[in-house]
Amino acid sequence: MALPEEFLQELKSRSDIADVVSSYLNLRHSGRTLSGLCPFHSEKSPSFHVYPENGSFYCFGCGAGGDVITFVRRIENLDYMEAIRFLAQRAGISVPENEADQGLSRAKGRILEINREAARFYHYQLMQQEGTSGREYLLERGLTLQTIRRFGLGYALNSRFALVNQLSKKGYTPEELLQANVASRASTGRVVDRFFARVMFPIIDLRGNVIAFGGRSLGDGKPKYLNTSDTLVFHKSSGLFAMNFAKNHSKDGLILAEGYMDVIALHQAGFPNTIATLGTALTVEQSRLLARYTGEVFLCYDSDEAGQKASSRAIPLLRDAGLTVRVLNLSAGKDPDEFIRSHGEQGPARFRQLMESSGNDVEYRLQKLRGRFNLQTSDGKVAYLIGAAELLATLDSRMEQEIYAGRLAEEIGVERSSILMQVEKNTKKRKKEKDRKEFRAFQQQTAGIRDTVNPEKSRHLRAANAEEALIVYLFQHPDAVQALSELIPPEKFITSFNRRVYTVILGKIKDGKACGLTDLAADFSVEEISAIAKMLADYHQVNVTAQDAKEYRNVILQENGKLDPQDASSAEPQDIRDYLRKLREQKK
Ligand code: UTP
Ligand code: MN
Repeated sequence: MALPEEFLQELKSRSDIADVVSSYLNLRHSGRTLSGLCPFHSEKSPSFHVYPENGSFYCFGCGAGGDVITFVRRIENLDYMEAIRFLAQRAGISVPENEADQGLSRAKGRILEINREAARFYHYQLMQQEGTSGREYLLERGLTLQTIRRFGLGYALNSRFALVNQLSKKGYTPEELLQANVASRASTGRVVDRFFARVMFPIIDLRGNVIAFGGRSLGDGKPKYLNTSDTLVFHKSSGLFAMNFAKNHSKDGLILAEGYMDVIALHQAGFPNTIATLGTALTVEQSRLLARYTGEVFLCYDSDEAGQKASSRAIPLLRDAGLTVRVLNLSAGKDPDEFIRSHGEQGPARFRQLMESSGNDVEYRLQKLRGRFNLQTSDGKVAYLIGAAELLATLDSRMEQEIYAGRLAEEIGVERSSILMQVEKNTKKRKKEKDRKEFRAFQQQTAGIRDTVNPEKSRHLRAANAEEALIVYLFQHPDAVQALSELIPPEKFITSFNRRVYTVILGKIKDGKACGLTDLAADFSVEEISAIAKMLADYHQVNVTAQDAKEYRNVILQENGKLDPQDASSAEPQDIRDYLRKLREQKK
């Protein structure tokens, strides 16, 4: 993956980390650094920092860190080369591609072409005589021809070779068809159509590419829906059906439904801001994507038990992504598609009413809680109130807590203040638990326990900390490279991750190459880059001097001499952090 050095330098100089990050979140200057709310985890006060001096970022809350490339990889969910291309496009320069990458992007391009051809073919068949059963099925379900065209719906014939033959004629190889997952290998070894006798729903990404299909059987054939498996161009955990349309209608909220037919029926009824996941439960990635387009999500899952469960699971994910969640209350046994149709001409208006009257998720959860108790009895009332107070304690907004406490008070006939007192108690308890959890996580982090990037750190804490200081020293003083490598060659490093980092940096500097975090992005994974960014963030505004470097070297040599795990654990994990924090504070 060797990109020419000049290109990387050019890209780097045109991709200012503060600029790039600010296009995703608000950054405030504080001294020489910038800070803001971390886009990678949810938080109320900013622990996400950008250090323009060395082109890095680090979040003290969740440990995400790196350079501008890593940032783009994380936030856009891209691999290294895709992130490079993304930044290059942003900077208006072109990427010199080597053969392997060209191979990969060619393969992706072929899959996209195959998908487009397949979607055309399926749509054509739907409109032909042979597609009558598919067409009738869709019309029977209330879709208009206009809707069918808009969504590019299609029909896969009841044949095992219709698509394979068609695409083979156009020059696509069986391997390519398998890679695109529009074909599968039969037990006889033959490559056959994956979809047959199904109406086809193409899934289109934000750039307008057909990336996958969902196919519904016309009758009771199993599975009801057959979807494309993950391919080079499709990851079902991040895809959203109809987001290509909905993104342009998202400012007043997005409606999240469960299935393809629900989405299409709602679009047809005048709700083009509806989307659905692709046969999987909502993921964190999808929630974050939604949060980039809107502030409010209307959850509109089926009213059956599965739908309710899915709602309960989706609500916290959406809230954590910073979204306001409102839950639509469809009448029993219904999904949005049936709801719209069963109200005939009134359907759209009734659905709009439903949206307007939909409670937010707190109301939804209170209502579900209420359903579990008999409010005619005092025991039932007490149990309901206790549960409700626990629920209200999870809210961040005091105002919300007061509003709901007021409603509960009226409903049950108790004093609002006593409900609030109970809520307060629960809030304190939760906070204590949270602090305890965070402290434990912090301890584990500092002690290197469960440190997957450098698993040896916990056993060789003292050495690992000294190694990290030396790595920072190299970043800060690349001109000292010769002296340092003589002072301590990489073989002396004890933990193998730090040794690898040290070796790579030494190599780069000695080859006369630039060595900032960005220059390491190709050699390390996103997690590894985070770990290196953390070293830089820990030593931010702390200059490691040549004298310090000597002392750190001595520590490593000493530790080399003993290498007894018992002794290493005598180093206090807290010390170094505290020391650094003090240094930082003094310099402010
Ligand atoms: P539903 O069974 O509720 O589908 O599954 P639906 O869209 O209401 O189906 P119709 O109305 O009977 O046509 C909800 C979603 O779960 C996924 C599909 O994305 C579907 O739209 N699913 C369901 C599958 O992927 N495979 C299945 O076998 C069933
Ligand atoms: Mn349905």
